[in-house]
Amino acid sequence: MIRKVKGTRDILPPDSELWNEVERIALQILGGFGYAEIRLPIVEPTELFVRSVGEGTDIVAKEMYTFADRKGRSLTLRPEGTAGVARAYIENGLGQRPQPLRLSYFGPMFRYEKMQRGRYRQFSQIGIEILGAATPAADVEVITALHTFLTELGFDDLVIVLNNLGDPDDRGVFIDGLKRELAPYKAELCADCLRRWDENPLRILDCKVPRCRELVADTTPVAEVVSAEAGRHVDEVEVGLADLEIPVRRAPRLVRGLDYYLRTVFEVVSPELGENTVICGGGRYDRLISDLGGAAVPGTGFAIGEDRLIEVLPQSFKDRVFRRRTVAVLPVGDETAAPATALARDLVRAGIAVETEVTGRSLRAALKWASKIDAALALIVGATELADNEVVIRDLHRGVQQTVRRDEAVTKVTAMLQRDDA
Ligand code: HAM
Repeated sequence: MIRKVKGTRDILPPDSELWNEVERIALQILGGFGYAEIRLPIVEPTELFVRSVGEGTDIVAKEMYTFADRKGRSLTLRPEGTAGVARAYIENGLGQRPQPLRLSYFGPMFRYEKMQRGRYRQFSQIGIEILGAATPAADVEVITALHTFLTELGFDDLVIVLNNLGDPDDRGVFIDGLKRELAPYKAELCADCLRRWDENPLRILDCKVPRCRELVADTTPVAEVVSAEAGRHVDEVEVGLADLEIPVRRAPRLVRGLDYYLRTVFEVVSPELGENTVICGGGRYDRLISDLGGAAVPGTGFAIGEDRLIEVLPQSFKDRVFRRRTVAVLPVGDETAAPATALARDLVRAGIAVETEVTGRSLRAALKWASKIDAALALIVGATELADNEVVIRDLHRGVQQTVRRDEAVTKVTAMLQRDDA
């Protein structure tokens, strides 16, 4: 038996219905805010991620699916979406369009990570980016779009945390200060943090080892060393969100695992998954496009981990999706298969979901099957009834049935389903 690759998943029905519904609502809400979908390649030149996400990050250093193609070019399965959006912006001259440009994306990302609940090697993101707006208002908008989307799904317990990383110059000052404050305790840091000390010292703030956390808790928060301008920027984001009654909490030691961020960074955590399994991450990246060789175009956005989001969906949402009602169409007797399919087609055209019996079961067995697939109604297409231009509708929950004219069947079924929904 061939098994799936470690860290990948099969998303089976009916769970796939949850994914479809989440994506439908994402298109509706994020699209409603003006974010139009961009569909990007899954494979990109390796250099794109090295230069954007950053060489010293875990993603680039340890987690990328990188391989040489047949001509020896180094390619990578995208570990995230923002870099591809920035590349596409430059390559397609999207700066020529009216700015700012609002884009959304959906789809699989790949990171070679240690497997655990909510952590996969192939996972999906739902993201948006707004390019060409440097204002706090743009950050407020993306967080508002995020909050509106999550609220629409029925969430009321998710927490948005936010921090100010300052500008790249502030970063150097902050890191020097951090190292100075931690130097007396350097020997107590874990092995990973000792490596981070040289390679990516900001990530020391993110360490989950208890002693490292204690040491970090006493250091000066990054927001206290940033420039006045950067400080004002993120303060304004907070005020804007407060005006909209969107609850956010300052997380003074929040850093992100990608190098391109500056000023505003944020994450969404769920009480159920905890802070190690973040549902969504985002922030501002005003240097990314210029670092990749484009113009000085600011940007801000976020990406939701769809796998994690689905794992903690509110029960009310799942109930609504799984309440989908289907009609079993059951041909019985000779020459009824085609008329049954014709009836099924009429129902589908009227917006009703059907499943047609196509294995040649007896009526008894077909009704059993209809119950098993949890059909609300069975439409029995019998040879005798057909000769009289009639079909039988059986209410499988109530166990009652009636004979109706063939040409009234669709109207009748629609009315019965609506009555049950009411
Ligand atoms: P990120 O924080 O690396 O940010 O990923 C965003 C989200 O993707 C995470 O919060 C998490 O929910 C999900 N995720 C990441 N790795 C995994 C995994 N191995 N398994 C399951 N879910 C995962 C970014 O990717 C940025 N591009 C976000 C962004 C957009 N910033 C600005 N614009």
